[in-house]
Amino acid sequence: MEVIIAPSTGEASAEAARIVAALIRAKPAAVLGLATGSTPMRLYAGLIEMHTHAQLDLSQVTTFNLDEYVGLAPDHPQSYARFMRDHFFANVNIPPGRIHIPDGLAPDLPAHCEAYEAAIRDAGGIDLQLLGVGSDGHIGFNEPTSSLGSRTRLKTLTEQTIRDNARFFASPQEVPRHVITMGVGTILQARRCLVLAFGGKKAQAVANMVEGPVTADVPASVLQFHPRCALLIDEPAAALLKRSSYYRWVHANKPDWQRP
Ligand code: F6R
Repeated sequence: MEVIIAPSTGEASAEAARIVAALIRAKPAAVLGLATGSTPMRLYAGLIEMHTHAQLDLSQVTTFNLDEYVGLAPDHPQSYARFMRDHFFANVNIPPGRIHIPDGLAPDLPAHCEAYEAAIRDAGGIDLQLLGVGSDGHIGFNEPTSSLGSRTRLKTLTEQTIRDNARFFASPQEVPRHVITMGVGTILQARRCLVLAFGGKKAQAVANMVEGPVTADVPASVLQFHPRCALLIDEPAAALLKRSSYYRWVHANKPDWQRP
């Protein structure tokens, strides 16, 4: 795994936006896997900025979001569909027909999850999957002990994730207990993964993910098996890494041809 420690959240997000934009410029019909939450917000702002001022054209891009709360309609203020519209889709030119987000109101959830997997396959698979990390080590909403081979399905959130995400709701009681999420196996099939993690609250999860054993107890640790996974973090999120000086050394000595 490539670990990039940036001096600030802003610089990490700008670097992540450059990586995504470079992919889109090289492959205009790229298939992106997208995440919600606090972590990628500045990355999305960076892409909007490039779309508005630097001719970044997203008209051929296809997107698949990682997850959605069960029971929330797409226009619910806390739904991930609404988050994506407000923070990204409303300000770029991805055609609505190319945008895919699990439907938290699907009447037949298992069938919907299977259809979501089929849609990813039909689109040719995901070129680049963006990921945040939960403070309990989840990716997507694959909570600890998720099968490392899992596919898109219904999951029950941990109490810790409910507490973490309660900041977006009026109270923890309002956070849905269930979600639809791409599986760990689905995520591993993306051709590239780009993981972002910011702040001291993520430091333990980051250390477990990068330097701990691969275990379903920390679903993000399975990314150690991914052939092309980059992790972009700020200093507080890097605080518990044992080999941080090596990661900085590698990055400082990276050949120019490997940079976005
Ligand atoms: C969101 C998602 C989650 C978040 C994670 C971190 O689509 O898949 O795994 O990335 O819970 O959330 P934030 O960024 O709010 O700390």
